[in-house]
Amino acid sequence: MHDHNDWMDAELIVTRDYGPDIRLFEIAPAGGVVTYEPGSHINITVDIGGQADVRSYSLVGLPRRSVYRIAVRRVQPSRGGSAWLHNLLPGAKLRITSPRNHFPLQHGASSYLLIAGGIGITPLLGMAQALQQRGADIRLLYAARRRRDLALAPEIEAALGERVSFFISEDGNRLDLQAALSGFPADGDIYFCGPARMLQGLREAMAALGRPQGSLRFETFGSGGLQPEESFWVRIPRLGVEVTVPPGCSMLDALETAGVEVMSECRRGECGLCTVDVMALEGAIDHRDVFLSDHQKRENSRICACVSRAVHGGLVIDTAWRADQ
Ligand code: FES
Repeated sequence: MHDHNDWMDAELIVTRDYGPDIRLFEIAPAGGVVTYEPGSHINITVDIGGQADVRSYSLVGLPRRSVYRIAVRRVQPSRGGSAWLHNLLPGAKLRITSPRNHFPLQHGASSYLLIAGGIGITPLLGMAQALQQRGADIRLLYAARRRRDLALAPEIEAALGERVSFFISEDGNRLDLQAALSGFPADGDIYFCGPARMLQGLREAMAALGRPQGSLRFETFGSGGLQPEESFWVRIPRLGVEVTVPPGCSMLDALETAGVEVMSECRRGECGLCTVDVMALEGAIDHRDVFLSDHQKRENSRICACVSRAVHGGLVIDTAWRADQ
């Protein structure tokens, strides 16, 4: 369910590497940039094995005069979007959308705690800069597993100075979410962008401290699962379809490639639009979304096709979409 109305030509102007896996891309849209709010993203058409597909990337920092900036971590294994982008050279022609915002920043809170995990820093940097310009009370906590997973660190330090703290797990300096929250004012707002499992840890820390979840706004990505990815089968008796979902490919992509219509929007396990009914299960489901409740995940009667997977077998499903609806 992508909006096809505002696609435009664009050109990759410059790339800059932040470590071996993270690359910043400056992209000039034909017709010039439009201003955008922090938290916005653009969609980009990528080529996955000869097939056009769409990926969303948060815009980095405050608006620039002539380019949109995105930072992309090369993911292994990936669905192919990050690898395709990393192979582009300046001058490459792209198709992009104008900025959209599903992760808006609300002004007016007494204080702000921004928490980034890995490449999740991308939407939060612009938020931190915008809040700082308004003189807001902010603190940015930036956590990464390895030093090489830190993106944009020099730019962040230059922009925020002592308002940012870095946490690198491989250096023995893990972010203790409960400790971080316990010193934060009860009426402050919390913004998070990072992996789904880190979001789960944040929610648990908030619950342990009795902090209302309503003060949390979040975006997730790359939903790593509890199990390594492996092939599994998906059968849809109503359509007489069976597909195999290989590692590195989402169930949603595999179904769409087979011509099965599945509603989708975020494609990262947040909106729930791609959720389908599970009629039978062989093996187990590795739920990787942040949409279904813990109770629903234990029941295994629904699965978010864009991020979650089966292990040790497969699924018989029915899709929510009906041609006659
Ligand atoms: S498309 Fe949003 S949860 Fe799958």
